[in-house]
Amino acid sequence: EYTLLYRSPLPIPPVKQPKLKLTNPVSGAPIHYYEIEIKPFEQRVYPTLRPAKFVGYDGIAPGPTFITPVGTETVVRFINRADKENSVHLHGSPSRAPFDGWAEDVTFPGEYKDYYWPNYQSARMLWYHDHAAHITAENAYLGQAGVYLLHDPAEDALGLPSGYGEFDIPIVLTSRYYNEDGTLRSTDTEDQNFWGDVIHVNGQAWPFFNVQPRKYRLRFLNAAVSRAWFLYFVRTNSPNARIPFQVIATDAGLTERPITTQQMYLSIAERYEIVIDFTNYRGQTIDLRNVAETNDVGDEDEYAHTLEVMRFIVSSTPVQDNSVVPATLRHFERSNGQYQINDVAFADVNNRVLAKPALGSVEIWELENSSGGWSHPVHIHLIDFKVLRRTGGRNAVMPYESAGLKDVVWLGRGETLTVEAHYQPWTGAYMFHCHNLIHEDNDMMAVFNVTAMEE
Ligand code: C2O
Ligand code: CU
Repeated sequence: EYTLLYRSPLPIPPVKQPKLKLTNPVSGAPIHYYEIEIKPFEQRVYPTLRPAKFVGYDGIAPGPTFITPVGTETVVRFINRADKENSVHLHGSPSRAPFDGWAEDVTFPGEYKDYYWPNYQSARMLWYHDHAAHITAENAYLGQAGVYLLHDPAEDALGLPSGYGEFDIPIVLTSRYYNEDGTLRSTDTEDQNFWGDVIHVNGQAWPFFNVQPRKYRLRFLNAAVSRAWFLYFVRTNSPNARIPFQVIATDAGLTERPITTQQMYLSIAERYEIVIDFTNYRGQTIDLRNVAETNDVGDEDEYAHTLEVMRFIVSSTPVQDNSVVPATLRHFERSNGQYQINDVAFADVNNRVLAKPALGSVEIWELENSSGGWSHPVHIHLIDFKVLRRTGGRNAVMPYESAGLKDVVWLGRGETLTVEAHYQPWTGAYMFHCHNLIHEDNDMMAVFNVTAMEE
């Protein structure tokens, strides 16, 4: 039987180049203008079988990577050359409501929409992906997802491993099912969860990556439809001894300090950045693996390799490594407030606004999973939040979850989470929802409206 395991190199998505560099006449800020075509492409995954059909930003998946300096605004024209409608969301950005990828604000085939993104936040890894009502799972699965790095030159002074594609590597995880003839199995074939049994990194099934014996910054993004991960590294020859690594950033950029761990949960849409040091593994291979039972199905499929993710092949030639992981990466402020929320469907137009935080207020929300069987990654648009507490289920906030701010959090079976956020800087109606895309498309989504009124 043909195996795809560790046969192909890890692709690095190309960096998107601006078409024009302009100046905002009002704010004086630089603006980078880009154009992206959403278009179909084919990829042959199994050499002897038929190609699979995708639809991606610029016809690749993941889409091209944006690297934008903090303080440079972006305008991106997304031209729809596909056969389905789309809506683009820059996940992690406090975009004005009309540019936030509102699910019903779709762009039809043959049309385009210009998105304006402010980029004033601290440096972080965001991602842009489809958000069209009821077809987000399909659109994202077919390839409409890409990395968007907000870069702060001040961060370079920390001396972390750097250089996009060289020592600073995006790791975008997805999972797919293929039919026996090599074509892609549609997300429509599942109505509860679409796990996928072929693991992809940056669009390549189970790739390998040649590395030097030194430190690397790996920027993880889970862009899968329903699959969550519990990741760890081992030497291929010693699969029981997990290799420690340092978590240095969450959804909202650098953590206060590096968190050393030997494994890491990564639910859908979450980003964690880590530094792993290959210095002591010259001439060896290191495997990135996934723990069973992470998903509610328990990864029961023994025919698939859902416990393998990718392989790092460490060169035997020693190199000079001047990069470091400083003991302090960043400082945060803290604050207080209160709020509670209930359940409603996005389609319920009259009732879906569940919260009206006053502009500038700090609120504490409790997210309770009383759905029984499943976990739900909960994403709140516009803001970053702090995970204060987790009760039930795992009963603890992971050290790397609380070391920085988040915009999506994994609400496991039977868990209740307490999250605190500052509702700013704009008024407007924003979505919050489950980021399991099948659940999202089934209307597990509601709205909060940031209002200018006093409480
Ligand atoms: Cu990553 Cu509402 O989305
Ligand atoms: Cu869900």
